[in-house]
Amino acid sequence: MNGKSADILTHSDAEENIIIREATKEDFSEVLQFIELVDSEFCPPLSQRGGGIYERVRNTLATPDANYLIVQTKNPEHSDKLHGFLAMVGCTRGWQGRDRAYINFFATRPAYRKAGLGEILLAELERKLLEKGIDKLYLCTWTGNKKAMRFYEKLGYSIYSVILNDRGRNINTFNYRKKIEPAKSAKQ
Ligand SMILES: CC(C)(COP(=O)(O)OP(=O)(O)OC[C@H]1O[C@@H](n2cnc3c(N)ncnc32)[C@H](O)[C@@H]1OP(=O)(O)O)[C@@H](O)C(=O)NCCC(=O)NCCS
Repeated sequence: MNGKSADILTHSDAEENIIIREATKEDFSEVLQFIELVDSEFCPPLSQRGGGIYERVRNTLATPDANYLIVQTKNPEHSDKLHGFLAMVGCTRGWQGRDRAYINFFATRPAYRKAGLGEILLAELERKLLEKGIDKLYLCTWTGNKKAMRFYEKLGYSIYSVILNDRGRNINTFNYRKKIEPAKSAKQ
């Protein structure tokens, strides 16, 4: 164990069926498979960056200031290799400053999209970060990922810089940030 504990989310309709918890080292296989499932949707795919997905997950789970927050169904199907993982966000705290964090991964399982899970997960991440004194959250996305841009912009993130042709010809990186406000991130 890495001392990262589970806790139950209480959020409107979803509270009956899901938990939101931080990953532990015991979740390694499911975290890895979750990222592999959505890998091709990233630009470039995460498997083609740095040490690949295995190293990314291993390092994240071993680093005290980084982790994955997972939306998981309370009653996963026996046959589900992902053990009910529905959405996941990877976050690094203390990124370019003690009061800042960076989202290094965000995805909802394809069959569960557009159901509000991403929104619930991001709100919970923001609430947890605020508890730790972090009120500035950063992330990036790229040209063509319109659903992610809509998603982040709806949730209060705005572009503060653009790196032209960063991911290939005509594929720009859009850097986003948000100042997290206590009232907006509090549980209802
Ligand atoms: C982006 C992503 C995480 C959104 O997750 P989700 O669980 O489907 O999001 P939600 O259901 O909470 O949607 C919240 C809002 O995001 C926007 N949104 C989500 N999916 C969208 C889509 N396909 N098209 C347009 N807007 C979309 C909408 O504004 C939506 O609010 P609405 O339903 O009231 O219109 C998901 O589409 C995904 O995993 N994409 C692939 C991986 C990826 O691109 N990750 C981001 C990398 S930077």
